[in-house]
Amino acid sequence: MKVANIQMRPEFLDREANLDHAARLLEQAREASIVVLPELFNTGYNFQEKGQVEGLAEDATSGPTSQMLQEIARDRDQYIAAGYAELYGGKVYNSQLFVGPEGFISSYKKVHLFYNEKKFFSSGSKLEVHSIGDINVGLMVCFDWFFPETMRSLMLMGADLMLHSANLVLPFCPNAMVTRCVENKVNAITSNRVGEEFGLRYIGMSQITAHDGTIVHRSPESEEEVWVADIDPMSGRDKSMNPLNNIIEDRRPDVYKLD
Ligand code: ACM
Repeated sequence: MKVANIQMRPEFLDREANLDHAARLLEQAREASIVVLPELFNTGYNFQEKGQVEGLAEDATSGPTSQMLQEIARDRDQYIAAGYAELYGGKVYNSQLFVGPEGFISSYKKVHLFYNEKKFFSSGSKLEVHSIGDINVGLMVCFDWFFPETMRSLMLMGADLMLHSANLVLPFCPNAMVTRCVENKVNAITSNRVGEEFGLRYIGMSQITAHDGTIVHRSPESEEEVWVADIDPMSGRDKSMNPLNNIIEDRRPDVYKLD
């Protein structure tokens, strides 16, 4: 199956320009069945005051970002995951929209908020796995990667492939995703942004990582890139490592400290 990551440089607070730009980049990913855009791809990230994000937060189904992505997904028979600021129940969430040929599927509200995000967003309280045909995808936004429990939970919920929208600023994630994928026998698409905002530099290095630790592709550190790769999203579904080890059955929750 063809999948794509889109590494882009959003314009801070310029939603219209970012939607236009993303639409052009999505053109280059036409052949992919699943496409991942970065976290907050349509607004930029490093908000300086709450009013900036409140002014751009939108409804998961009727907002301009959702409307544009639903239309593209329908036209191209594609699934698209993309980070945006969601207005829900009077609160603003750092969310990931997930749409497909059938229209809106879900809006995952980021569970693990990083640093100043805590000033601007409410945190979500539910991890999500969705089936698209035979494939189960797990939804993730950036800092969620830092907590091994996220991908472990998504794997235990049945996810084969993680769709990970990011605005990475710490240098660790691309290498860490190799371990996360190996320890859970899952595949992952991490789409990051590039550029700088008020002294915060985003590290690029979007990555497609396979369940056996292979880095299928890593994007450059500071340029935009659309990358389409052919992967088998379900290649890690059999959780056996060898005839005597199975990574689900061999866990020992009876000896772990889980809380
Ligand atoms: C991050 O979670 N955007 C670092």
